[in-house]
Amino acid sequence: MTDLTTNYLGLTLPNPVLVSSSGMTEKLDKLKACEDAGAGGVVLKSLFEEQISADTDSLMDGVDLMGHTDAFDFFKGMGHHHAVEKYLELIEGAKKSLSIPVIASLNAVNDGAWIDYANKIEKLGADAIEVNLFIIPANVDETGAEIEKRYLSIMKKLREKVQIPLAVKIGPHFSGMANMIREFQRLKINGVTLFNRFYRPDVDIERMKIIPAKIFSVAEEMALSLQWIALLSGELSIDFSATTGIHDAKAVVKQLLVGAKAVQMCSSLYKNGIEYLTTVVKELAEWMDRHQFSSIEDFRGKLSQEQSMTPQVYERSQYIKALVGIS
Ligand SMILES: Cc1cc2nc3c(=O)[nH]c(=O)nc-3n(C[C@H](O)[C@H](O)[C@H](O)COP(=O)(O)O)c2cc1C
Repeated sequence: MTDLTTNYLGLTLPNPVLVSSSGMTEKLDKLKACEDAGAGGVVLKSLFEEQISADTDSLMDGVDLMGHTDAFDFFKGMGHHHAVEKYLELIEGAKKSLSIPVIASLNAVNDGAWIDYANKIEKLGADAIEVNLFIIPANVDETGAEIEKRYLSIMKKLREKVQIPLAVKIGPHFSGMANMIREFQRLKINGVTLFNRFYRPDVDIERMKIIPAKIFSVAEEMALSLQWIALLSGELSIDFSATTGIHDAKAVVKQLLVGAKAVQMCSSLYKNGIEYLTTVVKELAEWMDRHQFSSIEDFRGKLSQEQSMTPQVYERSQYIKALVGIS
């Protein structure tokens, strides 16, 4: 009998496939659809720092947000009036009507008053909070060390505020990635979600305008989180969850093999419909059957680098092997 039960952030999930924070997780009926399709859990649409600080009018001034995936749904549909109240109602409703874990999501760039809302979220029964720290290191006056300090200061304050598990969703722009994640672990952050998919610009060469690139990922984008989870999951005890480019059951299996505790799906479910989740979970179970694994822990992390004492050497050797064969 194949058991897909997974432990992520100390929560028990019926399977490791989460629906990631997006328009698919912003309303109760959509959350029900995620559960009915077999989601192992849901990460709610983010509540934005700007919504909490009620500064959205000035935020909108002169800013073209189309295609900015995170903010897109919010500005398109949600509106900013009573956004916080609506969000808290969503958590309450989700906790009453779903049996899978409900992970709330906060999206922020600074610490500030929004951190107090974590308490409210906790009181309403959210099982955990994923914090999307949307800090783009584009300020020429801010050093890497200063930016890292900002990340850690925000997460430290949150950790002091709430007891529920916390995950941090980050982008790939760190020169000291391994150390940064270890610092989150030191702060007793329970999980790290790799990697945020930032807004990508494109150029319309006829109109000579900057336009948003596609908001949905392609499967190849998964390589980045696969690499980092393989490198670090064996060495660090923090839970890893993977996002970006996970489009099918094969991708789910790959992420689990390198050590992810959970995976998050978004673009593929937008494209194929939420029902596709049923296929993904079914195919995961079939793969396990084929390989005679009766539980996720039987194979999770089998391909992480924990056996290698020196991941840098492993990584370098893989790189050389790949390049030497190409002429
Ligand atoms: C329409 C849309 C809305 C999104 N909204 C949020 C959000 O509110 N908060 C967040 O952390 N990520 C948000 N994301 C990012 C997704 O959670 C996910 O990390 C990203 O799309 C990469 O995963 P994928 O390749 O499976 O799409 C959004 C993505 C899309 C396409």
